[in-house]
Amino acid sequence: MTSAHAVTAIAGTNIALVKYWGKRDVALNLPATGSLSLTLDRLGTRTTVVFDDGERDRLILDGAPAGDAETARVSAFLDRVRARAEIARRALVTSDNSVPTAAGLASSASGFAALALAAARAAGLSLSPAELSALARVGSGSAARSIFGGFVEMARGERPDGSDAIAHALPDGGNGENGWDVRLVVAITASGPKAIGSTAAMTHTERTSPYHAAWIASVPADLAAARAAIAARDLPALGAVAERSALRMHAAAMAADPAIIYWNAGTLAAIACVRALRAAGTPAFFTIDAGPHVKALCGAADADAVAAALRAVPGVSDCLIAAPGPGARVAPQLETR
Ligand code: PMV
Repeated sequence: MTSAHAVTAIAGTNIALVKYWGKRDVALNLPATGSLSLTLDRLGTRTTVVFDDGERDRLILDGAPAGDAETARVSAFLDRVRARAEIARRALVTSDNSVPTAAGLASSASGFAALALAAARAAGLSLSPAELSALARVGSGSAARSIFGGFVEMARGERPDGSDAIAHALPDGGNGENGWDVRLVVAITASGPKAIGSTAAMTHTERTSPYHAAWIASVPADLAAARAAIAARDLPALGAVAERSALRMHAAAMAADPAIIYWNAGTLAAIACVRALRAAGTPAFFTIDAGPHVKALCGAADADAVAAALRAVPGVSDCLIAAPGPGARVAPQLETR
């Protein structure tokens, strides 16, 4: 075979407002609970896949050949696509993140969503968004949500094969003309990769944290409250859910043995800043993922003021403002045959 079909896909990252932290199946990345997130416009991944005559899979990440561990993770993912498409060819994958890779800014969410779409198309598969969501989930649990735009809910699912552990866009989502125009202000509080990857950290929390069961039990009520808040466009209600979900997730991880602590001094200072903004009348609410950065949810009109306040916090090195964005899509001008 000589003809190579390169496909480029773009996906925005997403930030969970009701967190996913725990797996019911590690191999298939099946979540122990549902989760709910917002897909962002300007932070994401652009990935090109071409199945060619190479001897092995190759991954170019942010302009440089990726290490063995990252390449193996992508290669295992591509094996699923190859099995489904009944092809054997190896692939060249070129991926560029507009967020720092593995720094707790959810690059794996946009990364595996873009990879799922580009690889499936390049392999000749035509998958529905639900099928793409299930495929992306195998790469990274949060990636299932980045297939869709705006506010997205991920189902825990019940089936052992994970076919129902998929995401869907909420009907009153935050993306598009009639969407809810909120912002996430991302305060960067450190550089470099995070201390412990999310899969290892989730497994360790489940095994050793006395708070794990309580955390899992708390999620369904938060999901219901978040859904209702989005339907009513009630920012303080959604913000309250987001803060308690993040704090409970981190509390469960901190109570593991040995403890998992993602926060640094800048994290706490940024939390204090968001709470002070709120006390002074600006509706802003924080969330924190598996890293030290703080993301503040606020209305579009307040985003500049929230970013200015966070930039002045000691330990915050930079601040980005992101709006709701679309789901994963193929870049049409770059799809060649
Ligand atoms: O999908 P992963 O393995 O990157 O884990 C995501 C974990 C959190 O970002 C902390 C929570 C979430 O729901 O995105």
